[in-house]
Amino acid sequence: MAKKKRIDLRHAKSGMVLAAPVLSENGRVIINEDVALTEAMLQNLATWQIPAISIWDESELPRQFSVTHFTDEYDSTVQLVDSAFASMRFCGELPLAEMQQNVINSVLQMTDTIGALHHLQAMRRLGEYTIHHSVGVSVICGVLGKWLGYDGTALRDLVLAGLLHDIGKTQVPEELLGKPEKLTDEEMSQMRQHSALAIQLLRKTETATMDVVLAILQHHERMDGSGYPNGLRGDQIHPYARILAVADLYDAVTNDRPFQQKMSPFGAARLIAGDMYDKLDTATSATFLEHLRDYFTGIQVQLSDGRLAEVVMIGSDYTFQPVVKTQDGKFIDIGRTPSLKISQLAGS
Ligand SMILES: [Fe+2]
Repeated sequence: MAKKKRIDLRHAKSGMVLAAPVLSENGRVIINEDVALTEAMLQNLATWQIPAISIWDESELPRQFSVTHFTDEYDSTVQLVDSAFASMRFCGELPLAEMQQNVINSVLQMTDTIGALHHLQAMRRLGEYTIHHSVGVSVICGVLGKWLGYDGTALRDLVLAGLLHDIGKTQVPEELLGKPEKLTDEEMSQMRQHSALAIQLLRKTETATMDVVLAILQHHERMDGSGYPNGLRGDQIHPYARILAVADLYDAVTNDRPFQQKMSPFGAARLIAGDMYDKLDTATSATFLEHLRDYFTGIQVQLSDGRLAEVVMIGSDYTFQPVVKTQDGKFIDIGRTPSLKISQLAGS
């Protein structure tokens, strides 16, 4: 069991994980325990003249629980996926055996990290959008897969499907992928070929299982038949593809894309809730949203007027409009305050 350590605030660094809540002079929680500190949080703690904090001693923590390790795994996974995609684009070869060994293990370690979805928001996404998106989706597939009870080979397949779901985009002209404006109808239909194109690529490589192939082929199919490439419905869509659809949507909208600015995870949750009875699989979405609600309760967020606040309660109605408590102790019901919204998680 890891040890708690009390340290002077001057020695605190971003990435350290709090072992006890930081309290204000009158006993209010400023930041909850198990939250990884960010630079912004440290600055705020200094402003509030907090003298010392309790952290988990990283040297005692299993490596997979440290945010530093998460960042290392994230960066090295991005590099490996980047070179795998490049070798696909330029040589027509996918180093699948290597991905199955090293990359999946890295993603599973990220998946096992406390606050993985939170850390994912804080990663710096420099370089090609598709590469970061692929790594993000695979981590979310791992987290959601575990919440749904997957483990062993099934979980590894799910993570691999996440990593490779957009591999077909290596066959789409690069100008289209990075185009800052909205795509024309013609360009959009070219882009939409990526899920079917992936199958031709995977056929050439040895060991992708049928589950992985179907997950990738069907990740843009929708439960009501409105998806592509085949307009499949309901049970015709592989369960992994339904998980992938939720993970894909969540990662896409919570990150800046060439033609669209990111929204907060709360907005993303609302979007999933809006689609969960027609386009997305209801049970998969419900599991994701239930866990997200627990996940976001107690965290620090930034409000649209710039204030920091703690999420105190999120209702069970999937509107993801929480009650928050500001630093000066005011409780605000975001759902009843049209002038305010949650901009971002603090520090992301
Ligand atoms: Fe896709």
